[in-house]
Amino acid sequence: MKALVLSGGAGTRLRPITHTSAKQLVPVANKPVLFYGLESIRDAGITDVGIIVGETAAEVEAAVGDGSALGIKATYIPQDAPKGLAHAVLIAKDFLGDEPFVMYLGDNFLLGGITDLVSDFTAGDAAAQILLTKVPNPKQFGIAVLDDKGNVKKLVEKPKDPPSDLALVGVYMFRKEIHEAVRAIKPSARGELEITDAIQWLVDKGLTVKPHLVTGYWKDTGRLEDMLECNRAVLETLEPSNEGTVDSESKLIGRVVVEKGAQIIRSTVSGPAIIGRNTKLIDTYVGPFSAIYHDCLLEKNEIENSIILENTKITNVGRIEGSLVGKEVEISGSHEQPKAHKLMLGDHSKVVINT
Ligand code: TTP
Repeated sequence: MKALVLSGGAGTRLRPITHTSAKQLVPVANKPVLFYGLESIRDAGITDVGIIVGETAAEVEAAVGDGSALGIKATYIPQDAPKGLAHAVLIAKDFLGDEPFVMYLGDNFLLGGITDLVSDFTAGDAAAQILLTKVPNPKQFGIAVLDDKGNVKKLVEKPKDPPSDLALVGVYMFRKEIHEAVRAIKPSARGELEITDAIQWLVDKGLTVKPHLVTGYWKDTGRLEDMLECNRAVLETLEPSNEGTVDSESKLIGRVVVEKGAQIIRSTVSGPAIIGRNTKLIDTYVGPFSAIYHDCLLEKNEIENSIILENTKITNVGRIEGSLVGKEVEISGSHEQPKAHKLMLGDHSKVVINT
């Protein structure tokens, strides 16, 4: 069994972060979201992993390398443009051969791994297995309808009038028939080769597509709110630890992880929260559900329910909540006149100033 992990794409919903970085490398509890998927794949006993890369190929390759640090063997498959999930299968044919494989969307997060799903699939003979989860807002997802035997009968992308509330989770298992399917389908109205169309093609040929209902936590981290929610869910599972230095005037409350070389000076961290390698907090309050990545400096602020990426400096700005701040960003407060906000923001940035 092989794995195909999709780490290309445009990531329009996470701009401006994705103008310069891969969305799959945004850290969730200080670990790139992509790594959780790669570890689940490895834990299911799959080591031969093809990774689809697009514009951010260099960054993804720098992070994953040959895969050995994660216990896998990574093969990079460049995709010239995000032409769809089925297009990714099409261009991975040489890597996949005729072996069964797991397709994992690199920005999807599934708590609890895929080991049981993979063994279920290999024990059976279905052409495909899809993961489904009940959602309250089916209009925003690919939705499945099951027949009376419980197999997949129909798939619809973002239906206006949803026929069920079973949404497709971004982990799929396929046997070799999928290669014929991705060659047979045509691009959709949005110009992409849709994996839902390829799976529908299998169903229409009379092949079995098995559903598997996911009851554990799943999230597609495509949007800011999803990223923050996923971060909250993972932070709640962390074991507290302290490999940094915490001075006598600082307090760590509850589930707090302080990574190596981090310094906490006259500050309070109220968990669940994680403070990254060599990050410095001075006279700062870090509140629940915050993940501060490595080499940051936070001085004289309050931060809660936020993800801050590496090398960012935030000083004297009061309180920040519900935010995702990219790498090497500087945010500082000033008492100079005129009393105005001074901004240098990249394209598609979003700032809410509480006046
Ligand atoms: P999506 O989130 O569906 O697409 P996207 O990354 O283009 O994001 P947005 O809608 O915000 O513009 O993609 C799911 C995953 O698959 C994600 O990790 C990117 C990856 N992907 C590819 O590798 N190649 C592709 O052609 C597409 C469409 C997605």
